[in-house]
Amino acid sequence: MVRRPRVAGTVRTLRQAVARFRGARESVALVPTMGALHEGHLSLVRVARRRSKRVVVSIFVNPAQFAPNEDLSSYPRTFDADLAALAKEKADLVWAPASVATMYPDGFSTRITPGGPALVGLEDAYRPHFFAGVATVVAKLLIQCLPDIVMFGEKDYQQLKVVTRMAHDLDLPVRVIGVPTVREPDGLAMSSRNVYLSPQERAAAPTLFRVLEDCSRKIAGGAPIASVMADGREAITRAGFQLDYLEARHAETLEPVASMTDGPVRLLVAARLGRTRLIDNVGVSLPARP
Ligand code: PAF
Repeated sequence: MVRRPRVAGTVRTLRQAVARFRGARESVALVPTMGALHEGHLSLVRVARRRSKRVVVSIFVNPAQFAPNEDLSSYPRTFDADLAALAKEKADLVWAPASVATMYPDGFSTRITPGGPALVGLEDAYRPHFFAGVATVVAKLLIQCLPDIVMFGEKDYQQLKVVTRMAHDLDLPVRVIGVPTVREPDGLAMSSRNVYLSPQERAAAPTLFRVLEDCSRKIAGGAPIASVMADGREAITRAGFQLDYLEARHAETLEPVASMTDGPVRLLVAARLGRTRLIDNVGVSLPARP
């Protein structure tokens, strides 16, 4: 039988467990999650395992990053299955705050307001509350656990850039590691919210990645970014999505780019299928020179 990881439900027990790792001079990686774990999360755990002696996985559905009209109450919660999956991956410790008040006790009144990549007109334009909620909880998780490295999926590319910037700006003693997106065989990026898709929506959903890949190939082949983006937006809308954005941005700063000479380019998209909002992104790689 695979042994389940220990679960810490309070900051005190988390810190005691991490102190034991540190006492044995062991390195510590943190994988922050909101649970409902899928292969994408497990790939973060595997990368963490390879780079660190001990792996702590946090599971906390963070109310601060949901707007009142969003899916906080229906967000999938699968704690037992999550623990079983983490046992197979040999995670050492699960940090699962016993209640929302464990993370945000009565009177809690401090927020981190990120700038830079958090304010470039992508997710921030559609979910204005989101990055302050993410930055606040991630800063707390990092201070609670004090890991050497922390893992984030590239699937939430803007989030990855926001927390990287925040960790740097606040001198948090941690290295932020981005891990490539894990996809279903048909290309759909894995996400805990994919369970909301109806069978018809699920069949249509991979179009988003196909359009991104198509745009990426055309830009790499020398087509002008503006016209490729315009065609991509039309293709996504034609496939039945309600498009929030499809943008070409600088891969590090997320500032708009007009051509490949402006720096490494990342294409980012967000679109809704029914009640499900999907996000995805890909890089644009220039063909290798002969
Ligand atoms: O990506 C997520 O699952 C969440 O935004 C995170 C980083 C765990 C913060 O709640």
